Amino acid sequence: MSVRKYISIILLWSCALNAAAQTSEPATQSKAQPVSQHHLMPVPSSVRFNQGRLSITKSFTLAAKGYVDDRLRAGVDRMIKRLEGRTVLEFERGLLVDANAATLVVEAQGAGYDVPSVEENESYSLEVSDKQATLRAPTVVGVLRGLETFLQLLESDREGYFIPAVQIQDQPRFRWRGLLIDIGRHFEPMEVIKRNLDAMAALKLNVFHWHLTEDQGFRIESKKFPKLHEMGSDGLYYTQAEAREVINYARERGIRVVPEFDIPGHATSWLVGYPELGSAPGPYQIERRPGIFEPALDPTREEVYKFLDQFLGEMAALFPDAYMHIGGDENEGKQWDRNPQIQAFMKKKGIKDNRALQTYFNQRLLQILKKHGKRMMGWDEIFQPDLPKDTVIQSWRGPKALAEAARRGYDGILSNGYYIDLMQPASAHYKNDPLPADSGLSLAEAAHVLGGEATMWGEWVSPETIDSRIWPRTAAIAERLWSPREVNDVEDMYRRLNIISVQLEELGLTHEKNQQMMLRRLAQGKQVRALQTLVSVLEPVKEYRRYQQRPQTMLSPLTGLVDAARPDSEAARRFAALVNELLLDAPRFESRAFEIENTLSDWRGAGTELEAMIDASPALHEAAPLANDLSQIGAAGLEALSFLRRGVAPSTQWRDSRLLMLEQAAKPKAALEFPIISSVKELIIAAYELPQLKTMPPSEWRKRVKQLVVGAKQ
Ligand code: ACM
Repeated sequence: MSVRKYISIILLWSCALNAAAQTSEPATQSKAQPVSQHHLMPVPSSVRFNQGRLSITKSFTLAAKGYVDDRLRAGVDRMIKRLEGRTVLEFERGLLVDANAATLVVEAQGAGYDVPSVEENESYSLEVSDKQATLRAPTVVGVLRGLETFLQLLESDREGYFIPAVQIQDQPRFRWRGLLIDIGRHFEPMEVIKRNLDAMAALKLNVFHWHLTEDQGFRIESKKFPKLHEMGSDGLYYTQAEAREVINYARERGIRVVPEFDIPGHATSWLVGYPELGSAPGPYQIERRPGIFEPALDPTREEVYKFLDQFLGEMAALFPDAYMHIGGDENEGKQWDRNPQIQAFMKKKGIKDNRALQTYFNQRLLQILKKHGKRMMGWDEIFQPDLPKDTVIQSWRGPKALAEAARRGYDGILSNGYYIDLMQPASAHYKNDPLPADSGLSLAEAAHVLGGEATMWGEWVSPETIDSRIWPRTAAIAERLWSPREVNDVEDMYRRLNIISVQLEELGLTHEKNQQMMLRRLAQGKQVRALQTLVSVLEPVKEYRRYQQRPQTMLSPLTGLVDAARPDSEAARRFAALVNELLLDAPRFESRAFEIENTLSDWRGAGTELEAMIDASPALHEAAPLANDLSQIGAAGLEALSFLRRGVAPSTQWRDSRLLMLEQAAKPKAALEFPIISSVKELIIAAYELPQLKTMPPSEWRKRVKQLVVGAKQ
């Protein structure tokens, strides 16, 4: 899409919102007014809300015009079931023939690709008036995307359920919008994969990247080389029939399945059954630790290529997607360095180093994949000057690497910045653009940036916790990859994310509900309210710090407090907003102060209440210092608030002792940390500076507090 087109789309979008925002009629007339806030995610490329609404009652009916097939029928049935679930209304089943009488008319022009393709046209238009909704699309996949939008438009008030009158024209900004799930480190059963495919479809993601092999597990059945899955997986693998089931399930939802077989490194599990493929004699065992390991395929032996030809050929027949991912990351070549036969081979062929040797390996792989009709895809490391131009680079190292590949004419997708295993907030991922405005790429070069993928690396996820690491944050990434670049209001993203997160539960996702269950187990059936308060203001440590704090293996239980905690604390965000408003908005000080006081009292009380429970639950002993911290944080915040309220400044000694306490509380414990520290620090500093602040206008106040908080961080 051209830049000019983006701009006009955005203008249309913001005009619609502005027009809506200017509406200030009394609530009783709201029926006739356009909506001022929608909760669409991803935001369509163009939305215009109109006057009026289409009622959704039990006489809701649906008709299909144009092209109709089983995939479309199944998609419509799923949508209707969800609409019924939300409204508790029972509709008539089946597609009506008479389109004039239907509440919703869907009209596909054609089937689109039989095997989901990166070329698929996913666009659609949706027009809703007070009489009827019409969804039109060139392909069945476009209709599926539009049906998700239709569901997201559902609203209700005292008069019932309705869809606001609206005109939507929509198409994705990027063609490749994926989610990688690593089931090598931890296996995930079929139902986990399926419910995540449902969630992907709800957010209009279109690539499931199935990371099928790792040092820690070989997870796909091979009929040609059965020792791969039999000896490399602890019995936890997908049969080929199951893989076909997943591929079909994904296809039904307009989602491609790109399989990854990570070689030559990350390959320990291959070598358990076939040590002769390795660059050292073995024997090998399934790796249980996280990290980067030495075992690598031997790129100098013809038997290895013969094996790969047969194995990848078998997989090429199983997986219909045009692309096959061969990994290629993090091979340090230590086994290669120590193998005299490999060294002699390099010398003979004039291969100067391990990078060049891996390029040689990739060139051979490329021939194999070509023979089996696949385009090769790999991580940054496979990018070499003489790599053929039809190879796709997946960048985990950064947008610069991606831009460089695009400049040289290679297709690429971005994953750096979308590593959801690193426990960053949704806002960080949301701001990460595969093609930022200042990329410096020409339009032709920019066209090589196909999109991006969220990566759910599997070191520390189980079937019980994985949804909570993927959702709802991945919805923010889905929006970044679908919506225009200019849709980038973080606060509004969070507002919509909260609504979408609840909607995902209707698909069976467990990201919200499993936390309560895990806390109940930790509390051995006791009241979890206080534990819930504690965990609501904790986040797992970021990046790769978890393992340092909590050395576990792939066999360890993932049922501790850190596993119950979620990566982007909404309670902390809400508290930060309250403190911000309190310090910014002097006239409304008291209403904010009241809410803040309640929250802080809750924290102080929970910390104390938890002592007995922690005492009686050995699995919670590690939480004792956290509970103590929370009490102290709550108490210090309450003191600060009291000083602020009374307009009395505390002593320097008070301030210093409270800041010291916060410094201690800020240190991670049990692989968890408090994201509320800086907000409480603001309260403490504001209280101390009060005599100065009182003489300033509120806007100055706020600036000064911010400066002081930044200063106090050193
Ligand atoms: C990777 O993170 N090594 C792809």
